[in-house]
Amino acid sequence: MIMFRHSLRGRGDLTEWRDAARAFLMAGCVPETIEWNTMDDADGLFGFDENRLPPPAAEPPRITVTPSFLKLAQAVLCHSDPTRFALLYRLLFRLFHSHGLLDMAADPDVNAAQKLAKSVGRDYHKMTAFVRFKELPLPEGVAGRRRFIAWFEPDHFIVARVAPFFQRRFTDMDWLIFTPKGSASWDGETLRVTDDPAQKPDLKDETDDLWRIYYASIFNPARLKVKMMMTEMPKKYWKNLPEAELIPSLIANAERQVIEMGQRAASEPQAFHHRIQEAAARQPVPEGPAAGTLSAVKEEARRCTRCDIHCLATQTVFGEGPQDAQVMIVGEQPGDQEDLAGRPFVGPAGKLFDETLALVGIDRRRLYVTNAVKHFKYVPRGKRRIHQKPNMGEIRQCRWWLGQEIALVKPKLVVAMGASALFALTDMKQRLEDVRSEPMPMEDGRVLFATVHPSYLLRIPDADLRQRELVRFRADMESVQRLIGAFG
Ligand code: URA
Repeated sequence: MIMFRHSLRGRGDLTEWRDAARAFLMAGCVPETIEWNTMDDADGLFGFDENRLPPPAAEPPRITVTPSFLKLAQAVLCHSDPTRFALLYRLLFRLFHSHGLLDMAADPDVNAAQKLAKSVGRDYHKMTAFVRFKELPLPEGVAGRRRFIAWFEPDHFIVARVAPFFQRRFTDMDWLIFTPKGSASWDGETLRVTDDPAQKPDLKDETDDLWRIYYASIFNPARLKVKMMMTEMPKKYWKNLPEAELIPSLIANAERQVIEMGQRAASEPQAFHHRIQEAAARQPVPEGPAAGTLSAVKEEARRCTRCDIHCLATQTVFGEGPQDAQVMIVGEQPGDQEDLAGRPFVGPAGKLFDETLALVGIDRRRLYVTNAVKHFKYVPRGKRRIHQKPNMGEIRQCRWWLGQEIALVKPKLVVAMGASALFALTDMKQRLEDVRSEPMPMEDGRVLFATVHPSYLLRIPDADLRQRELVRFRADMESVQRLIGAFG
């Protein structure tokens, strides 16, 4: 028979439940006499004295609670299941008489509590993986720490539980995470948590585009496992993940793309690629000086044997673009797909590059796009060709071609994407980070601008760092756009 109705706020706080549970236990109340509610449910219809706690019994029991019960209770109380308070009290009451109860995994109460704790754990991990911060620009002229904001919809009351994770992970920035189940913020000194529900802020901004571009670039249709993807990134999170918008169309196109990839045999060397090289070698050597036009130099480069990389590559991948381009983009070397297609930046890095150009409003057709090294360097591993960085000797050998391209195109601005390109253009071993994002005058009067290589962005495993680097890359490309604008 119900003798007590007790209402709790029930937003993941251990103390409110613990205080009440202790009072009921001291009074010797059996679980069946207590009805536990969350504040919203308490209607007082039955005339019980709301939240009246019984006085302790004449000889109250000595209560000791094990750390393992406390740990379990802390997790279970974060769950949004309305039965959790009663379940925990039942467990506490029973533990009093049966100390080893928590070790009995088959016990229905223990089992139910562990299930709730597990789903709180899952929610915790989803929040650490799917929170997407947006940067809030600082007001004009104000210097300070970078500020970020995020919206997330957890299933349970986990904000206080997960906030220390974000504090550890993002110590060097100010952030605020809003959720309908509370909010957390960090300003470099204080971690603040409230359990008041927050409203979804308007978070649409351009970083969304970057997430989408990134996701589309790394999406490999041949590796698509829809079921696994749905488990890892359940649909309910999609609405707050900018990249999720692409998933349906990527899945829909995946089958066709796999067939096309198979036809292209993208990761295998062409069976008789040496014949392509031999055919190039048989071409008559053009008469007179090779230089003069880009097509003449390109023709000559087809037979290049200046370093050993040519032995394995399918073909020379020369630069492409208008001979009077004002801007030259220099990458590292062709990748797997470029090697087969014979054109620079057509694979995943090229896709990310193209999409970033489109975002900042640069027309690739107006650029001359090339690489520091014109052959694909790789090691065969099974059926795959694994990219190898060209060494300094190879870059120096290939600089001969890059020099010809620069001399013929005469770009006003040369953009080095990545350290290999920077080395090819300056012959100096310097940290890319030290010169990145700043236009630098070159001896020949041109301007050099250094940024990262898009492949670097595709390889960053950490989601937040990747987002920040995507934003920086885009900002670099915006600077390039401004420099182009300044040419008139
Ligand atoms: N990476 C490069 O540096 N160049 C390409 O053409 C493709 C990938």
